[in-house]
Amino acid sequence: MLSSIVNIVIEASSLMQTEDFVISQKGGISNIVTSSDIAVQEFLCQRLSALLPGCGFICEEEDIRDIKHEYVWIVDPIDGTANYARGIRECGICVGLRHNSEMELAVVYLPRTDELFTAERGKGAFLHHPGTGKPTKQLHVSKRPFSEGIMCTALSLYHKEHTQICSDIILDVYGQCNDIRRFGSAASELCYLAMGLYELYFEYILSPWDFAAASLILEEAGGTLCDLQGKPLDHTKPSGVLAANNKESLDRLVAIVSSRLS
Ligand code: IPD
Ligand code: CA
Ligand code: CA
Repeated sequence: MLSSIVNIVIEASSLMQTEDFVISQKGGISNIVTSSDIAVQEFLCQRLSALLPGCGFICEEEDIRDIKHEYVWIVDPIDGTANYARGIRECGICVGLRHNSEMELAVVYLPRTDELFTAERGKGAFLHHPGTGKPTKQLHVSKRPFSEGIMCTALSLYHKEHTQICSDIILDVYGQCNDIRRFGSAASELCYLAMGLYELYFEYILSPWDFAAASLILEEAGGTLCDLQGKPLDHTKPSGVLAANNKESLDRLVAIVSSRLS
């Protein structure tokens, strides 16, 4: 099953290889969609339904939400659409398969960096390079402590009413860790955490398609995630997301966030 999903995702990525995409606004200048997002999503929905007939879908474009099924595909056709539209490298396709209440399989593919991340529950997370054919590597989170950690984060782009609380939390963490980064693609950031490039992650509000696939990749690499209250993530609903390379650092993030939320 995982290799079939990989093949479908690689095929879908050819729809991103065009400069003739049309950009439309979904809700203001920061929230855009391109014709490539729509084309990739249509292709994925068609091919993934044929692969596993009778499954449900949660997809970003047209807000598809049909979850009363044993198996549900959770799809972001392009995570990092603003990056995609500007030619920035960090953007890619996310496909996760949820079985009952758990993520079972995940593929995140960043075609511009030739990084394809896969995970299967209980079997580890891996980085492949389908374009260049460089060797596949098993992924492991870094061992750096919180004080040496770099946090990937953002200022709640689509809900600017949360900018103040986000910046308060980010400044609190920044005072205790090494540095911060913002790549503009939540899935890339969570996969880079899985690779050991970063240690911490905070977003005030994400949609399930932003984090579902990458969350399994991170967990299978030894990392850990939760919502802003420290509870397990629900992959079917919008949620704040905290993630870290180990439980101790995640608990410290939860404590910083709780002190700002209370
Ligand atoms: C967005 C990106 C971004 C994150 C936003 C997401 P999109 O996804 O992941 O990094 O900060 O919250 O919505 O809209 O490019 O698929
Ligand atoms: Ca997204
Ligand atoms: Ca998207």
